[in-house]
Amino acid sequence: MPAEATEQTNEELVLAFLADGGEEYTSGEALSDKLGLSRAAVWKHVESLRHKGYRIEAVPARGYRLLEIPDRLTALELTPLLTTHDIGRVIHFRDTLNSTNELAFKLASEGAFHGEVVVADEQTAGRGRRGRAWVSPGAVNLYFSVVLRPDLPPHRAPELTLVAAVAGAEALREAGADVRIKWPNDLYVGERKIAGILTELSAEPDRIHFAVLGMGINLNGARSDYPDEMAATLTTLAEARGRPISRAAFAAALWARLERWLEVHADRGFGTIRAAWREMSSTLGQQVLVQTGQRELQGVAEDIDDSGALILRMPDGATERIVAGDVQQIRSRRQAD
Ligand code: BTN
Repeated sequence: MPAEATEQTNEELVLAFLADGGEEYTSGEALSDKLGLSRAAVWKHVESLRHKGYRIEAVPARGYRLLEIPDRLTALELTPLLTTHDIGRVIHFRDTLNSTNELAFKLASEGAFHGEVVVADEQTAGRGRRGRAWVSPGAVNLYFSVVLRPDLPPHRAPELTLVAAVAGAEALREAGADVRIKWPNDLYVGERKIAGILTELSAEPDRIHFAVLGMGINLNGARSDYPDEMAATLTTLAEARGRPISRAAFAAALWARLERWLEVHADRGFGTIRAAWREMSSTLGQQVLVQTGQRELQGVAEDIDDSGALILRMPDGATERIVAGDVQQIRSRRQAD
């Protein structure tokens, strides 16, 4: 593992101790003993943390107490919250980036490990599925890409995206949004999109070198952060649950679920994921219009198969297997009957 994967800086360690202390004061003496630092060095780290937006109370003869952490997504905020083994144990944070997928792809090509994550506060050229842009306003949302090195043939790569959709839907539900998955991997609250997933691959015909799994999740932004034409089609977690969320806490919860579902997928295959995906899907059972680039098809979305492709029941009773495309719900089957 690279050094940054295992070694926390002294500043991170001071923060971790204060976070562990919760409501209790941690004495300067205890901190300097545990970390092997002088009292002056501890004070310097506390001051540096305060400059970054941490509110730390200092009371003579009692010590330090962490009152508030800023809503940032650097390793300093994220590392103490992580419960994962791999995902997010190395974090490459940037204030502004063209696309986290692009940097993650470059880092993976240079040897980045499974689980390394690129996080950006803002993206200037965020990429969406099918060549679209992903509008990425700063300081309000979560944009990240994780490097994965799965032991899978390339034709099974779409399963990874469905794994991420299940993890994302669960994390958003736990945070208070009534999320459903629209095939293949868009997350919606009602008719409004809340998150999207883009997986990009480096592979040979029979082997994946690595996958870059990128997720964009609308967390605390307002509709006014987006162009007018988009505002009517999207929502945010804050809107769905009526209050903002700590972006770092959400990221840590999501990565824990993602890692768990990736392990389930590696150990037991796609079946368990497929069941969870079906359970949370808004697409299955619906009369839909599917656009695949070359074709436009209308039918009932019957199921997904064992590689995540959509099975569409056509009006003549035949089935079509759709590997990639955009789905638009026309009306429910019950309404159609
Ligand atoms: C979609 O629904 O079209 C997929 C959107 C994926 C957006 C995320 S944001 C983080 C990562 N970096 C990118 O450039 N795209 C993905």
